[in-house]
Amino acid sequence: MALTAIKGFNDILPDESGRWQHIEKSARRVFELNGFSEIRVPIMEKTELFRRSIGDATDIVEKEMYTFTDKGENCVTLRPEGTAGVMRALIEHKLYVQDPVAKLYYLGPMFRYERPQKGRYRQFHQIGAEITGVHDPLADAQLLNMLSTFFREIGLDEPALQINSLGCPECRPAYRNTLLSFLDGRLDSLCEDCKRRFTTNPLRTLDCKVAGCIEATAGAPAMLDHLCRACGEHFDGVRRYLDLSGTRYSLNTRMVRGLDYYTRTTFEMVTCQLGSQSAVAAGGRYDGLISQLGGPEIPGIGFAMGLERVALLLSQREFVTTPDLFIATMGGGERDLAFRLMDGLLKSGVRVEMDYEGKSLKSQMRRADKLKAVYSVVIGQNEVSSGRAAFKRMADGVVTDAALSVDEIAKVVKCFDSPLK
Ligand code: HAM
Repeated sequence: MALTAIKGFNDILPDESGRWQHIEKSARRVFELNGFSEIRVPIMEKTELFRRSIGDATDIVEKEMYTFTDKGENCVTLRPEGTAGVMRALIEHKLYVQDPVAKLYYLGPMFRYERPQKGRYRQFHQIGAEITGVHDPLADAQLLNMLSTFFREIGLDEPALQINSLGCPECRPAYRNTLLSFLDGRLDSLCEDCKRRFTTNPLRTLDCKVAGCIEATAGAPAMLDHLCRACGEHFDGVRRYLDLSGTRYSLNTRMVRGLDYYTRTTFEMVTCQLGSQSAVAAGGRYDGLISQLGGPEIPGIGFAMGLERVALLLSQREFVTTPDLFIATMGGGERDLAFRLMDGLLKSGVRVEMDYEGKSLKSQMRRADKLKAVYSVVIGQNEVSSGRAAFKRMADGVVTDAALSVDEIAKVVKCFDSPLK
């Protein structure tokens, strides 16, 4: 039997990893500029943590978690998302004592047993950010602005921001009843999942993708029209701050997130380029989560983006690292000098490649082309005896004559590198 990766678990190969690093570096830069620090939490937690935070009646907890009993008879789960673990750490280490406002970001693999398709995998990667300790809508707007800045920084106009409010424990129960009365007469038109959701989680019928459910719930009452005064004012505040900073958004009154911890503001960054997996990033407020997990009454808001989805949006762009110089040699004798130069140049920060196996000159030059080296040089007997060589800029064939010393070569390669790279 051939040993292959598990279905839905992907390798990130070298020609893709440059794109991933570009996304990760940009996220770190933008998030740290906004005052966020990295937190690293385990990829496995007690199952109870996810059940109590994400919610028993969600698809994630009901059907998608990688849960098992370990050798010590503990029920553990590979994390399906990052917020629960980060909040567990915040409470366990009392991070709110040093500073009542915590701004944390994280990145790493998450696991959900979903049906794999383009943009949806069983192991996927998220970059997420959370602000705890701020009720004010200013935090919501800063977070959303940061997310929009990140997408601009990596060179994407898309995805588009959609926002909604899911209210709070004050106003949501009444809205839930209003929605139940609306759905009651339409139960026959709903899919089997939504019939079940009618009793467990009726709001989820609003974002069911089944055509019959979309039609049946078309005129459903919207949470936005049933917010209590405090939630209404909060949502107006978010919109005002977004307008103040010129961040574009649209309202999506049917947006219901797939995790139960949300209150008030929820949002998604969506694209139409990835088929049915339209959400590239998503999140919202979770003002009750920290206390629900045994911590103090501290509000929170955050988001996570799917790295695979961001990478797919960037897939037209190349992110390969090319060598500054390829050193080719004519024969055995010159390889010692070439190796010494390569070693010195690498130590001074010049990216150099040379032939490892004594291949023909033609095949060495083919490799220089393949690697997209900016410069190439051929070292033969003449070069060894004169101590000089011709450095060819591969893009336009311009040749610069220079001494075969680390300093001189570094000058040639660095002098010309900026416009071409
Ligand atoms: P989520 O909507 O479940 O939210 O996931 C966030 C993002 O992760 C999605 O928008 C998507 O880009 C990506 N994603 C989710 N599932 C998959 C999958 N199977 N394959 C590929 N990508 C996927 C959360 O996880 C919340 N923890 C976000 C949050 C943070 N809310 C508050 N703070």
